[in-house]
Amino acid sequence: MNKKSLNILVTGGAGFIGSHVVMGLVTKYPNYNIFNLDALTYAGNLENLKSIQDYPNYTFIKGNILDESFINNLFEKYEFDGVIHLAAESHVDRSITDPLAFVKTNIIGTVNLLNAAKNYWKNDFSEKRFYHVSTDEVYGSLGKTGLFTEETPYDPNSPYSASKASSDHFVRAYGETYGLPYVISNCSNNYGPNHFPEKLIPLFINNIIQEKSLPVYGDGNYTRDWLFVEDHAVAIDLVFHEGKNTETYNIGGFNEWKNIDLVKLLCKLMDVKLNRVNGSSEKLITYVKDRPGHDLRYAIDASKINKNLGWKPSVTFEEGLAKTIDWYLQNEEWLSNVTSGNYQEYYKKMYT
Ligand code: NAD
Ligand code: DAU
Repeated sequence: MNKKSLNILVTGGAGFIGSHVVMGLVTKYPNYNIFNLDALTYAGNLENLKSIQDYPNYTFIKGNILDESFINNLFEKYEFDGVIHLAAESHVDRSITDPLAFVKTNIIGTVNLLNAAKNYWKNDFSEKRFYHVSTDEVYGSLGKTGLFTEETPYDPNSPYSASKASSDHFVRAYGETYGLPYVISNCSNNYGPNHFPEKLIPLFINNIIQEKSLPVYGDGNYTRDWLFVEDHAVAIDLVFHEGKNTETYNIGGFNEWKNIDLVKLLCKLMDVKLNRVNGSSEKLITYVKDRPGHDLRYAIDASKINKNLGWKPSVTFEEGLAKTIDWYLQNEEWLSNVTSGNYQEYYKKMYT
Protein backbone atom coordinates (compact mmCIF):
# COMPACT_ATOMS: atom_id res chain seq x y z
CA MET A 1 0.00 0.00 0.00
CA ASN A 2 1.08 3.53 -0.79
CA LYS A 3 1.97 5.21 2.49
CA LYS A 4 1.62 8.84 1.37
CA SER A 5 -1.90 9.51 2.51
CA LEU A 6 -4.65 7.00 3.06
CA ASN A 7 -8.21 7.01 4.36
CA ILE A 8 -8.49 3.82 6.38
CA LEU A 9 -11.65 2.33 7.83
CA VAL A 10 -10.97 0.27 10.94
CA THR A 11 -14.01 -1.69 12.16
CA GLY A 12 -14.27 -2.75 15.81
CA GLY A 13 -11.70 -0.16 16.84
CA ALA A 14 -13.26 0.37 20.27
CA GLY A 15 -12.71 -3.28 21.21
CA PHE A 16 -9.68 -4.97 22.69
CA ILE A 17 -7.38 -5.52 19.67
CA GLY A 18 -8.99 -2.81 17.52
CA SER A 19 -8.18 -0.12 20.10
CA HIS A 20 -4.48 -1.02 19.96
CA VAL A 21 -4.58 -1.06 16.16
CA VAL A 22 -6.25 2.38 16.05
CA MET A 23 -3.85 3.89 18.62
CA GLY A 24 -0.89 2.52 16.66
CA LEU A 25 -2.05 3.83 13.28
CA VAL A 26 -3.21 7.26 14.51
CA THR A 27 0.08 8.00 16.26
CA LYS A 28 2.39 6.46 13.66
CA TYR A 29 0.80 7.91 10.51
CA PRO A 30 -0.21 11.57 11.01
CA ASN A 31 -0.72 11.79 7.22
CA TYR A 32 -3.46 9.11 7.29
CA ASN A 33 -7.09 9.59 8.22
CA ILE A 34 -8.20 6.78 10.51
CA PHE A 35 -11.95 6.18 10.75
CA ASN A 36 -13.04 3.90 13.57
CA LEU A 37 -16.45 2.34 12.97
CA ASP A 38 -17.84 0.56 16.02
CA ALA A 39 -21.34 -0.32 17.24
CA LEU A 40 -20.18 -0.07 20.88
CA THR A 41 -21.61 -3.42 21.92
CA TYR A 42 -20.83 -4.63 25.46
CA ALA A 43 -17.24 -5.22 24.20
CA GLY A 44 -16.70 -1.77 22.68
CA ASN A 45 -15.50 1.00 24.96
CA LEU A 46 -14.44 4.52 23.99
CA GLU A 47 -12.44 4.70 27.23
CA ASN A 48 -9.94 2.46 25.41
CA LEU A 49 -9.19 5.31 22.99
CA LYS A 50 -8.92 8.27 25.36
CA SER A 51 -5.25 8.85 24.53
CA ILE A 52 -5.95 9.57 20.83
CA GLN A 53 -9.56 10.81 20.78
CA ASP A 54 -8.53 14.42 19.99
CA TYR A 55 -6.00 13.67 17.26
CA PRO A 56 -6.89 15.53 14.04
CA ASN A 57 -6.40 12.39 11.91
CA TYR A 58 -8.87 10.33 13.99
CA THR A 59 -12.65 10.07 13.54
CA PHE A 60 -15.00 7.87 15.54
CA ILE A 61 -18.20 6.70 13.83
CA LYS A 62 -20.82 4.87 15.85
CA GLY A 63 -22.54 2.37 13.57
CA ASN A 64 -23.31 -1.24 12.88
CA ILE A 65 -21.71 -3.28 10.08
CA LEU A 66 -25.10 -4.95 9.64
CA ASP A 67 -26.56 -1.66 8.42
CA GLU A 68 -26.02 -2.00 4.68
CA SER A 69 -27.02 1.46 3.44
CA PHE A 70 -25.18 3.17 6.29
CA ILE A 71 -22.00 1.29 5.37
CA ASN A 72 -22.36 2.09 1.66
CA ASN A 73 -22.81 5.78 2.47
CA LEU A 74 -19.68 5.78 4.63
CA PHE A 75 -17.58 4.61 1.69
CA GLU A 76 -19.02 7.39 -0.49
CA LYS A 77 -18.56 10.02 2.18
CA TYR A 78 -15.04 9.19 3.38
CA GLU A 79 -13.55 7.60 0.23
CA PHE A 80 -11.78 4.76 2.00
CA ASP A 81 -8.62 3.37 0.40
CA GLY A 82 -8.38 0.47 2.78
CA VAL A 83 -10.35 -1.48 5.34
CA ILE A 84 -8.96 -3.23 8.42
CA HIS A 85 -11.87 -5.35 9.59
CA LEU A 86 -11.86 -6.42 13.23
CA ALA A 87 -15.50 -5.91 14.28
CA ALA A 88 -16.88 -9.21 15.48
CA GLU A 89 -18.58 -11.13 18.20
CA SER A 90 -15.45 -12.64 19.71
CA HIS A 91 -16.25 -14.79 22.75
CA VAL A 92 -16.56 -18.57 22.27
CA ASP A 93 -18.79 -19.08 25.34
CA ARG A 94 -21.28 -16.47 24.12
CA SER A 95 -21.34 -18.18 20.70
CA ILE A 96 -22.49 -21.37 22.42
CA THR A 97 -25.49 -19.63 23.99
CA ASP A 98 -26.33 -17.32 21.05
CA PRO A 99 -24.90 -18.61 17.73
CA LEU A 100 -27.16 -16.42 15.58
CA ALA A 101 -25.57 -13.21 16.87
CA PHE A 102 -22.27 -14.56 15.52
CA VAL A 103 -23.77 -15.47 12.15
CA LYS A 104 -25.14 -11.95 11.86
CA THR A 105 -22.13 -9.84 12.82
CA ASN A 106 -19.29 -12.12 11.76
CA ILE A 107 -20.70 -13.44 8.49
CA ILE A 108 -23.38 -11.02 7.25
CA GLY A 109 -21.54 -8.00 8.63
CA THR A 110 -18.38 -9.05 6.80
CA VAL A 111 -20.28 -9.61 3.55
CA ASN A 112 -21.86 -6.14 3.88
CA LEU A 113 -18.38 -4.62 4.15
CA LEU A 114 -17.08 -6.67 1.21
CA ASN A 115 -20.01 -5.50 -0.94
CA ALA A 116 -19.53 -1.88 0.06
CA ALA A 117 -15.80 -2.04 -0.76
CA LYS A 118 -16.38 -3.85 -4.06
CA ASN A 119 -19.13 -1.42 -5.14
CA TYR A 120 -17.31 1.72 -4.08
CA TRP A 121 -13.95 0.71 -5.55
CA LYS A 122 -15.74 -0.65 -8.66
CA ASN A 123 -13.07 -2.15 -10.82
CA ASP A 124 -10.31 0.21 -9.85
CA PHE A 125 -8.61 -1.83 -7.20
CA SER A 126 -5.13 -0.31 -7.51
CA GLU A 127 -3.77 0.83 -4.14
CA LYS A 128 -6.86 -0.57 -2.42
CA ARG A 129 -6.93 -3.26 0.21
CA PHE A 130 -9.45 -5.20 2.30
CA TYR A 131 -7.74 -6.71 5.35
CA HIS A 132 -9.72 -9.29 7.26
CA VAL A 133 -8.50 -10.01 10.79
CA SER A 134 -9.25 -13.60 11.72
CA THR A 135 -8.36 -16.25 14.25
CA ASP A 136 -6.41 -19.48 14.53
CA GLU A 137 -9.60 -21.16 15.80
CA VAL A 138 -10.72 -21.67 12.19
CA TYR A 139 -8.17 -24.51 11.99
CA GLY A 140 -9.92 -26.46 14.77
CA SER A 141 -7.95 -28.26 17.41
CA LEU A 142 -4.43 -29.69 17.44
CA GLY A 143 -3.49 -32.89 19.21
CA LYS A 144 -0.50 -32.94 21.54
CA THR A 145 1.95 -32.09 18.73
CA GLY A 146 2.07 -30.05 15.52
CA LEU A 147 1.42 -26.42 14.63
CA PHE A 148 -1.17 -24.57 12.54
CA THR A 149 0.34 -23.39 9.25
CA GLU A 150 -1.33 -21.34 6.53
CA GLU A 151 -2.01 -24.65 4.74
CA THR A 152 -3.81 -26.35 7.64
CA PRO A 153 -7.35 -27.24 6.47
CA TYR A 154 -10.21 -25.36 8.12
CA ASP A 155 -12.01 -27.45 10.74
CA PRO A 156 -13.90 -25.09 13.10
CA ASN A 157 -15.60 -26.56 16.17
CA SER A 158 -17.51 -23.72 17.86
CA PRO A 159 -20.20 -21.44 16.46
CA TYR A 160 -17.67 -18.60 16.89
CA SER A 161 -14.92 -20.31 14.90
CA ALA A 162 -17.43 -21.53 12.30
CA SER A 163 -18.62 -17.95 11.78
CA LYS A 164 -15.02 -16.68 11.46
CA ALA A 165 -14.17 -19.51 9.05
CA SER A 166 -17.19 -18.61 6.97
CA SER A 167 -16.20 -14.95 6.86
CA ASP A 168 -12.65 -15.92 5.79
CA HIS A 169 -14.15 -17.97 2.93
CA PHE A 170 -16.28 -15.01 1.82
CA VAL A 171 -13.26 -12.74 1.76
CA ARG A 172 -11.33 -15.26 -0.35
CA ALA A 173 -14.34 -15.74 -2.61
CA TYR A 174 -14.61 -11.98 -3.25
CA GLY A 175 -10.94 -12.04 -4.26
CA GLU A 176 -11.44 -14.96 -6.65
CA THR A 177 -14.78 -13.83 -8.07
CA TYR A 178 -14.49 -10.05 -8.23
CA GLY A 179 -10.74 -9.51 -7.96
CA LEU A 180 -11.09 -7.69 -4.62
CA PRO A 181 -7.57 -7.17 -3.25
CA TYR A 182 -7.48 -8.77 0.17
CA VAL A 183 -5.21 -10.13 2.89
CA ILE A 184 -6.19 -12.29 5.85
CA SER A 185 -4.35 -12.98 9.08
CA ASN A 186 -5.14 -15.71 11.59
CA CYS A 187 -3.85 -14.99 15.07
CA SER A 188 -3.57 -16.91 18.32
CA ASN A 189 -4.85 -15.80 21.76
CA ASN A 190 -4.10 -12.16 22.60
CA TYR A 191 -3.76 -10.68 26.09
CA GLY A 192 -3.02 -7.19 27.41
CA PRO A 193 -4.68 -3.89 28.41
CA ASN A 194 -8.33 -3.22 27.38
CA HIS A 195 -9.21 -6.93 27.33
CA PHE A 196 -12.83 -7.45 28.36
CA PRO A 197 -13.03 -9.56 31.57
CA GLU A 198 -15.00 -12.40 30.01
CA LYS A 199 -11.80 -13.94 28.56
CA LEU A 200 -9.49 -16.10 30.68
CA ILE A 201 -6.67 -13.69 31.65
CA PRO A 202 -8.64 -10.50 32.45
CA LEU A 203 -11.47 -12.49 34.07
CA PHE A 204 -9.02 -14.21 36.38
CA ILE A 205 -7.13 -10.99 37.16
CA ASN A 206 -10.42 -9.38 38.16
CA ASN A 207 -11.50 -12.39 40.21
CA ILE A 208 -8.16 -12.52 42.02
CA ILE A 209 -8.48 -8.82 42.88
CA GLN A 210 -12.02 -9.52 44.19
CA GLU A 211 -10.89 -12.78 45.87
CA LYS A 212 -13.55 -14.65 43.88
CA SER A 213 -13.18 -18.24 42.67
CA LEU A 214 -11.23 -18.93 39.46
CA PRO A 215 -13.40 -21.20 37.26
CA VAL A 216 -11.01 -23.49 35.34
CA TYR A 217 -12.90 -25.44 32.67
CA GLY A 218 -12.52 -29.24 32.70
CA ASP A 219 -9.15 -30.49 33.91
CA GLY A 220 -7.33 -27.29 32.86
CA ASN A 221 -5.08 -29.20 30.47
CA TYR A 222 -6.08 -27.15 27.43
CA THR A 223 -3.31 -25.30 25.65
CA ARG A 224 -3.29 -21.84 24.08
CA ASP A 225 -0.52 -19.82 22.36
CA TRP A 226 -0.45 -16.32 23.93
CA LEU A 227 0.60 -13.10 22.22
CA PHE A 228 0.82 -9.60 23.74
CA VAL A 229 -1.80 -7.45 22.00
CA GLU A 230 0.60 -4.65 21.03
CA ASP A 231 2.69 -7.17 19.11
CA HIS A 232 -0.44 -8.24 17.23
CA ALA A 233 -1.21 -4.59 16.41
CA VAL A 234 2.30 -4.17 14.98
CA ALA A 235 1.82 -7.33 12.88
CA ILE A 236 -1.51 -5.99 11.58
CA ASP A 237 0.13 -2.71 10.52
CA LEU A 238 2.83 -4.71 8.71
CA VAL A 239 0.45 -7.11 6.97
CA PHE A 240 -1.76 -4.20 5.88
CA HIS A 241 1.17 -2.35 4.32
CA GLU A 242 3.54 -5.10 3.22
CA GLY A 243 1.43 -8.26 2.94
CA LYS A 244 0.83 -9.76 -0.50
CA ASN A 245 -2.67 -9.71 -1.95
CA THR A 246 -4.64 -12.96 -1.60
CA GLU A 247 -2.22 -14.26 1.03
CA THR A 248 -2.89 -15.45 4.55
CA TYR A 249 -0.48 -14.82 7.43
CA ASN A 250 -0.51 -16.78 10.67
CA ILE A 251 0.43 -14.70 13.71
CA GLY A 252 1.35 -16.26 17.05
CA GLY A 253 3.42 -15.87 20.17
CA PHE A 254 5.63 -18.99 20.03
CA ASN A 255 4.31 -19.20 23.58
CA GLU A 256 2.23 -22.24 24.49
CA TRP A 257 0.76 -22.59 27.96
CA LYS A 258 -1.57 -25.14 29.52
CA ASN A 259 -4.42 -23.18 31.12
CA ILE A 260 -3.73 -24.54 34.58
CA ASP A 261 -0.02 -23.63 34.43
CA LEU A 262 -0.88 -20.15 33.20
CA VAL A 263 -3.46 -19.68 35.95
CA LYS A 264 -0.95 -20.78 38.61
CA LEU A 265 1.65 -18.34 37.24
CA LEU A 266 -0.93 -15.54 37.25
CA CYS A 267 -1.82 -16.38 40.88
CA LYS A 268 1.85 -16.19 41.91
CA LEU A 269 2.42 -12.85 40.16
CA MET A 270 -0.79 -11.39 41.59
CA ASP A 271 0.10 -12.46 45.16
CA VAL A 272 3.31 -10.44 44.82
CA LYS A 273 1.62 -7.39 43.24
CA LEU A 274 -1.16 -7.40 45.84
CA ASN A 275 1.17 -8.07 48.78
CA ARG A 276 -0.74 -11.23 49.60
CA VAL A 277 0.67 -14.37 51.19
CA ASN A 278 2.25 -16.62 48.53
CA GLY A 279 -0.33 -19.29 47.61
CA SER A 280 -3.44 -17.36 48.61
CA SER A 281 -4.70 -16.75 45.04
CA GLU A 282 -4.09 -20.38 44.05
CA LYS A 283 -6.61 -21.40 46.70
CA LEU A 284 -9.28 -19.67 44.57
CA ILE A 285 -8.86 -22.18 41.71
CA THR A 286 -12.07 -24.16 41.18
CA TYR A 287 -12.51 -26.79 38.50
CA VAL A 288 -15.88 -26.33 36.80
CA LYS A 289 -17.91 -28.00 34.04
CA ASP A 290 -16.05 -28.03 30.73
CA ARG A 291 -16.87 -25.83 27.74
CA PRO A 292 -18.79 -27.93 25.16
CA GLY A 293 -16.68 -28.68 22.08
CA HIS A 294 -13.60 -27.33 23.89
CA ASP A 295 -10.58 -27.29 21.54
CA LEU A 296 -7.65 -29.09 23.17
CA ARG A 297 -4.75 -27.12 21.80
CA TYR A 298 -3.92 -24.16 19.53
CA ALA A 299 -0.35 -23.34 18.46
CA ILE A 300 0.75 -21.22 15.54
CA ASP A 301 3.63 -21.64 13.15
CA ALA A 302 4.39 -17.95 12.52
CA SER A 303 7.43 -18.59 10.35
CA LYS A 304 5.84 -17.16 7.17
CA ILE A 305 5.23 -13.68 8.59
CA ASN A 306 8.63 -13.86 10.25
CA LYS A 307 10.45 -14.80 7.04
CA ASN A 308 8.46 -12.69 4.56
CA LEU A 309 7.70 -9.58 6.60
CA GLY A 310 10.33 -9.72 9.35
CA TRP A 311 7.81 -9.78 12.22
CA LYS A 312 8.32 -11.49 15.54
CA PRO A 313 6.92 -10.89 19.02
CA SER A 314 8.89 -8.25 20.92
CA VAL A 315 7.47 -8.78 24.40
CA THR A 316 8.21 -11.89 26.48
CA PHE A 317 5.31 -13.52 28.30
CA GLU A 318 6.78 -12.53 31.68
CA GLU A 319 7.00 -8.85 30.59
CA GLY A 320 3.60 -8.91 28.92
CA LEU A 321 1.82 -10.47 31.89
CA ALA A 322 3.48 -8.04 34.31
CA LYS A 323 2.44 -5.08 32.11
CA THR A 324 -1.08 -6.47 31.86
CA ILE A 325 -1.51 -7.01 35.60
CA ASP A 326 -0.12 -3.52 36.32
CA TRP A 327 -2.55 -2.02 33.82
CA TYR A 328 -5.57 -3.65 35.46
CA LEU A 329 -4.38 -2.62 38.93
CA GLN A 330 -3.89 0.97 37.76
CA ASN A 331 -7.21 1.11 35.90
CA GLU A 332 -9.66 0.04 38.58
CA GLU A 333 -12.24 2.50 37.30
CA TRP A 334 -12.15 0.97 33.80
CA LEU A 335 -12.58 -2.45 35.38
CA SER A 336 -15.41 -1.45 37.68
CA ASN A 337 -17.23 0.36 34.81
CA VAL A 338 -17.16 -2.69 32.54
CA THR A 339 -18.05 -5.14 35.31
CA SER A 340 -21.11 -3.29 36.53
CA GLY A 341 -24.62 -3.63 35.03
CA ASN A 342 -25.06 -6.29 32.33
CA TYR A 343 -21.76 -7.97 33.19
CA GLN A 344 -23.21 -9.14 36.52
CA GLU A 345 -26.10 -10.84 34.70
CA TYR A 346 -23.68 -12.45 32.25
CA TYR A 347 -21.47 -13.70 35.07
CA LYS A 348 -24.38 -15.23 36.97
CA LYS A 349 -25.68 -16.97 33.85
CA MET A 350 -22.26 -18.40 32.89
CA TYR A 351 -20.79 -19.31 36.25
CA THR A 352 -23.55 -20.16 38.73
P1 NAD B 1 -13.71 -7.53 21.03
O1 NAD B 1 -14.92 -8.36 21.31
O2 NAD B 1 -12.92 -7.01 22.16
O3 NAD B 1 -14.10 -6.27 20.13
C1 NAD B 1 -15.01 -6.36 19.08
C2 NAD B 1 -15.42 -4.94 18.71
O4 NAD B 1 -16.33 -5.02 17.60
C3 NAD B 1 -16.16 -4.19 19.84
O5 NAD B 1 -15.65 -2.89 19.96
C4 NAD B 1 -17.61 -4.17 19.38
O6 NAD B 1 -18.33 -3.05 19.83
C5 NAD B 1 -17.44 -4.18 17.86
N1 NAD B 1 -18.61 -4.76 17.19
C6 NAD B 1 -19.23 -5.92 17.47
N2 NAD B 1 -20.28 -6.12 16.65
C7 NAD B 1 -20.31 -5.04 15.81
C8 NAD B 1 -21.16 -4.67 14.74
N3 NAD B 1 -22.19 -5.44 14.37
N4 NAD B 1 -20.89 -3.52 14.08
C9 NAD B 1 -19.84 -2.73 14.45
N5 NAD B 1 -19.03 -3.04 15.47
C10 NAD B 1 -19.25 -4.18 16.15
O7 NAD B 1 -12.83 -8.43 20.06
P2 NAD B 1 -11.24 -8.57 19.96
O8 NAD B 1 -10.81 -9.60 20.92
O9 NAD B 1 -10.64 -7.23 19.98
O10 NAD B 1 -11.12 -9.21 18.49
C11 NAD B 1 -11.06 -8.38 17.35
C12 NAD B 1 -10.96 -9.26 16.11
O11 NAD B 1 -9.80 -10.07 16.19
C13 NAD B 1 -12.14 -10.21 15.96
O12 NAD B 1 -12.46 -10.29 14.59
C14 NAD B 1 -11.60 -11.54 16.47
O13 NAD B 1 -12.24 -12.62 15.82
C15 NAD B 1 -10.14 -11.44 16.07
N6 NAD B 1 -9.21 -12.18 16.93
C16 NAD B 1 -9.23 -12.04 18.29
C17 NAD B 1 -8.27 -12.70 19.07
C18 NAD B 1 -8.23 -12.56 20.57
O14 NAD B 1 -7.46 -13.27 21.22
N7 NAD B 1 -8.99 -11.67 21.18
C19 NAD B 1 -7.31 -13.51 18.44
C20 NAD B 1 -7.34 -13.64 17.05
C21 NAD B 1 -8.27 -12.96 16.31
O1 DAU C 1 -7.21 -18.31 19.54
C1 DAU C 1 -7.74 -17.05 19.27
C2 DAU C 1 -9.02 -16.86 20.03
O2 DAU C 1 -8.68 -16.74 21.40
C3 DAU C 1 -9.82 -15.66 19.57
O3 DAU C 1 -10.23 -15.85 18.24
C4 DAU C 1 -11.06 -15.45 20.46
O4 DAU C 1 -11.73 -14.27 20.07
C5 DAU C 1 -10.58 -15.32 21.88
O5 DAU C 1 -11.69 -15.19 22.75
C6 DAU C 1 -9.74 -16.53 22.30
O6 DAU C 1 -10.55 -17.73 22.39
P1 DAU C 1 -10.40 -18.78 23.59
O7 DAU C 1 -11.64 -19.53 23.73
O8 DAU C 1 -9.13 -19.55 23.46
O9 DAU C 1 -10.17 -17.72 24.81
P2 DAU C 1 -10.77 -17.68 26.30
O10 DAU C 1 -10.04 -16.59 27.00
O11 DAU C 1 -12.25 -17.65 26.30
O12 DAU C 1 -10.31 -19.08 26.90
C7 DAU C 1 -8.93 -19.43 26.96
C8 DAU C 1 -8.85 -20.82 27.57
O13 DAU C 1 -9.26 -20.74 28.96
C9 DAU C 1 -9.78 -21.84 26.92
O14 DAU C 1 -9.16 -23.10 26.92
C10 DAU C 1 -11.00 -21.86 27.85
C11 DAU C 1 -10.39 -21.59 29.22
N1 DAU C 1 -11.27 -20.87 30.17
C12 DAU C 1 -11.86 -19.71 29.75
C13 DAU C 1 -12.69 -19.01 30.59
C14 DAU C 1 -13.38 -17.74 30.14
C15 DAU C 1 -11.45 -21.35 31.46
O15 DAU C 1 -10.89 -22.39 31.84
N2 DAU C 1 -12.28 -20.66 32.30
C16 DAU C 1 -12.92 -19.51 31.90
O16 DAU C 1 -13.69 -18.95 32.74
